[in-house]
Amino acid sequence: MALIYTCENQVIEMALEKLKDDGLVSRDAYFNHDAPQNLRREVTYRDFDFLSRLSKTANVETIRSALAWLKQKGIVPQDATCDERAFDELRREVKAKFTIPGTSVTPVMERLLYMLSSAKRPRRMIGLGTYCGNALVWIVGPSCGRGRVYEAEKVYGIDIDADATERARENMGQLAHTDHIDLIAEDGLRAVERLAGPFDYVYLDVEGKDLGKGLYLELLKRLYGKIEKGGWVLAHDIVVPPFAKEFDEYLRYVRNKENFGESILFDVDAFGLELSVK
Ligand SMILES: C[S@@+](CC[C@H](N)C(=O)[O-])C[C@H]1O[C@@H](n2cnc3c(N)ncnc32)[C@H](O)[C@@H]1O
Repeated sequence: MALIYTCENQVIEMALEKLKDDGLVSRDAYFNHDAPQNLRREVTYRDFDFLSRLSKTANVETIRSALAWLKQKGIVPQDATCDERAFDELRREVKAKFTIPGTSVTPVMERLLYMLSSAKRPRRMIGLGTYCGNALVWIVGPSCGRGRVYEAEKVYGIDIDADATERARENMGQLAHTDHIDLIAEDGLRAVERLAGPFDYVYLDVEGKDLGKGLYLELLKRLYGKIEKGGWVLAHDIVVPPFAKEFDEYLRYVRNKENFGESILFDVDAFGLELSVK
């Protein structure tokens, strides 16, 4: 069974107050804290899309509490940090300079990805499904840009779409300290066989023509031997209802203790992220 991180009750209440003050939800709106954890993201709240509002409203507090939770569970060291000022500066630069035709990466997910990389400080990363770089930038954020907080060795960003990869190169090329990032237009299935490991950080956000989200598991199985012990695998979109069937087998694989020591679902927005620790 996976560990599940959901927004703390006090963070939800605080966000709800902010939304009421801003007139975005009615004064008598409430959140049903008594619903079982794994159903809280279903409609336990009367507003039609509370999670998407929450992901924009309380993301600083959510991510602070997620970092504290990871320390408490012993997943990250007690002295792990996330530089919020560096994140804010990077975010301002990305929003001003990047061209992104569309993305499902929400504000809280941007911050979660950045925080996880800050806490882990990976050296050798591979992202599959780079598209125009709008998820990759938060993953490599702590090791690039003017406010980088550490130096990483290598980052590969792979996408089968050559135009999107070119856009990702243009986007990422506008940031400082990106020499360690290699953006490659290639089928991920080939790239994971060709590229030499080891990797200590893997990010999955592909959607294959034939396999759909089933491609995550195919890629992960091919990469598994190249992932260091203690390495992290992040899978985006994991709670999106139409993908549930395609992710079934993936989740069984990463939640099997023989494959990964721990697997954690971050149920912080309408897309979700599964972090699996080898
Ligand atoms: C949902 S998008 C990724 C979104 C992106 N992570 C973002 O920043 O918002 C899925 C991507 O998977 C890519 N893709 C599909 N099949 C692939 C494959 N076999 N190898 C590599 N990339 C693939 C697509 O070209 C597309 O850019």
